[in-house]
Amino acid sequence: MLKRTFLTLCAAGAFAMANAQTQYTIAADKVKAHIQPTMYGIFFEDINLAADGGVYAELVKNRSFEFNMPLMGWKEQKKDGGDGRTEVINRAVERPENAHFIKSYITGDAGFYGFSNEGFRGGMGVKEGEEYSFSVIAKQEGDTNVKLNIELHGDNGDIIGKAELTPTDKEWNRYSVKFKSTATTPKAQLYVWMSGKGVIDLDMISLFPEHTWKNRPGGLRADLVQRLADLKPGFLRFPGGCIVEGRELNNRYQWKKTIGPVDKRENIINRWNTEFKHRPAPDYYQTFGLGFMEYFMTAEDIGASPLPILNCGMACEFNTGELVPLDKLDPYVQDALDLIEFANGDASTKWGKLRTDLGHPAPFNLKMIGVGNEQWGPQYIDRWKIFTKAIKTKYPDVKIVSALGPSPEGKEFDLLNKTFRSLGADILDEHYYAPAKWFRDNARRYDNYDRKGPKIFAGEYAAQSVSTVNPDNKNNWECALSEAAFMTGLERNADVVNMASYAPLFAHVEGWQWTPNLIWFDNLKSYATPNYYVQQLFSINKGTDVVPLTLNNEAVAGQNDSYATASLDKNTNELVIKFVNTSTSAQNVSFKITGSKGYQKQATVTTLKADSKDAENSLTAPTAVSPVESTIDISGNTLKLAVEPYSFKIVRLKNK
Ligand code: AHR
Repeated sequence: MLKRTFLTLCAAGAFAMANAQTQYTIAADKVKAHIQPTMYGIFFEDINLAADGGVYAELVKNRSFEFNMPLMGWKEQKKDGGDGRTEVINRAVERPENAHFIKSYITGDAGFYGFSNEGFRGGMGVKEGEEYSFSVIAKQEGDTNVKLNIELHGDNGDIIGKAELTPTDKEWNRYSVKFKSTATTPKAQLYVWMSGKGVIDLDMISLFPEHTWKNRPGGLRADLVQRLADLKPGFLRFPGGCIVEGRELNNRYQWKKTIGPVDKRENIINRWNTEFKHRPAPDYYQTFGLGFMEYFMTAEDIGASPLPILNCGMACEFNTGELVPLDKLDPYVQDALDLIEFANGDASTKWGKLRTDLGHPAPFNLKMIGVGNEQWGPQYIDRWKIFTKAIKTKYPDVKIVSALGPSPEGKEFDLLNKTFRSLGADILDEHYYAPAKWFRDNARRYDNYDRKGPKIFAGEYAAQSVSTVNPDNKNNWECALSEAAFMTGLERNADVVNMASYAPLFAHVEGWQWTPNLIWFDNLKSYATPNYYVQQLFSINKGTDVVPLTLNNEAVAGQNDSYATASLDKNTNELVIKFVNTSTSAQNVSFKITGSKGYQKQATVTTLKADSKDAENSLTAPTAVSPVESTIDISGNTLKLAVEPYSFKIVRLKNK
């Protein structure tokens, strides 16, 4: 019970075991449901600087001068008597997708004129001894020969890395140079100095670490992708979220504009730039350096099934709710069909050839696609029908993920739920951002769902410690533990629930708009929240088949404030028990296991617990709440387990 404070109980030494031992039963030979490999996955959205300023490792902000204020992030600089001036040129007619560049006139006989770039949230994270690659697209004008001196400045303005570069051509060309940083700092500044009288045009001024995920040039932050890989996710949903919809249709996500050379990917404002007055982010844009090719490749890298979500001709209904007329939907529908061909087609198809030309001849094995993000209303049903008919006609095996609106109950939910079920939808996407108690109270949500109806994708969920979109929400232990309680219900119903993902995924500690989030980071480091560890433990211990775990012949979903599920792992020949104790009392429990030939004497136990329901992790205490491994002896077919208050335990028993 959460009525008394947990801390008070700890202080009073109230860890004493409950007197009676509760006996649960596991029927290890009675498979109830197969657990899909996709069961636990990842929801990715470029919110909270997740992409630009986050997992996309570009260190320069506004590298191509496409922000509404084209010099945002840049500051004019002069030194040693240098002088000059700069014009922002707009060549939208010729290059609509990358309209702006700068033309600098270097007028000083001596010294240096140039610009510094502030990076993301006041700096660039660089590490001592690591190599960085500076690049620029440039063009000298007339007979000039302007030279570039690149400097990285550390905390006190000291130079911690430098290089020289002289663009030689009179036509646009790309130049690059590498150098090492001599210091580690989260807030380095990049200086681009110009010298030698003349005129030079500059665009796409970029700085990347050489060390990225799989060391791909212009790639992703290795530490952050590793966090995703460590979840062993079954799927990767991308690119969102409301970002798919846009505040208005002009601002929607268009996958075709996010592939190919990065200087040809049209930048747009990030819809989260202006969403919350209490968390303004005027410098939040999308370069799409992390675009659809990178999403597909990341999914492949981390063994996750790709799940792209596409705009269905509707802007975000929390904002403008703009609609594409039904007779003008064709380009939107075509985007979906072309995407499937891009992912799965061979080189004889137009879009399969493009994927091949981009360096990936093998198909991405796309099996699912989302039509719309968090849409609702009859206007969604009208558009959904058109998309579904077109997709199913051409690709009958591709499963369609259909939204059930932003809330797990109410009028809008009921309309979509009823309609899509009657229309034979494949997968229904339910979202729940709700109080921690809702998660505990809803552990039986799926027990009575139609076993023959559509599959469920718990597509976005997170317990809110205060209220939804409240900036004071925390990733605390009570929320994480309540999510664990709820997830036992997802797993117990794995015949209906095929996929689940926490949302949102990433947040920059200095650049977030939404909280709570699964993983927090700054320019150099990151930490996993207690919620992350819950997700991870479910994922890596999901097993292959659910077997009944009962108390008095009933599923365990709240009795004694406990929640539990059991599965077989046929790959490792183990029985996996997950037990969540949300009470402030310790519990002495035992599991009588039937239908088994017995287990090896020692089982492994993983425990996730905290001394307070308010406990959180942080950049300075990243593993305050994190899993601890131990072993336990079992005799015969009965397992006795001492379960601490407010804890989540996983026991793996190996068959004899
Ligand atoms: O996860 C944050 C937002 O919550 C998503 O963009 C949206 O789908 C939901 O409303």
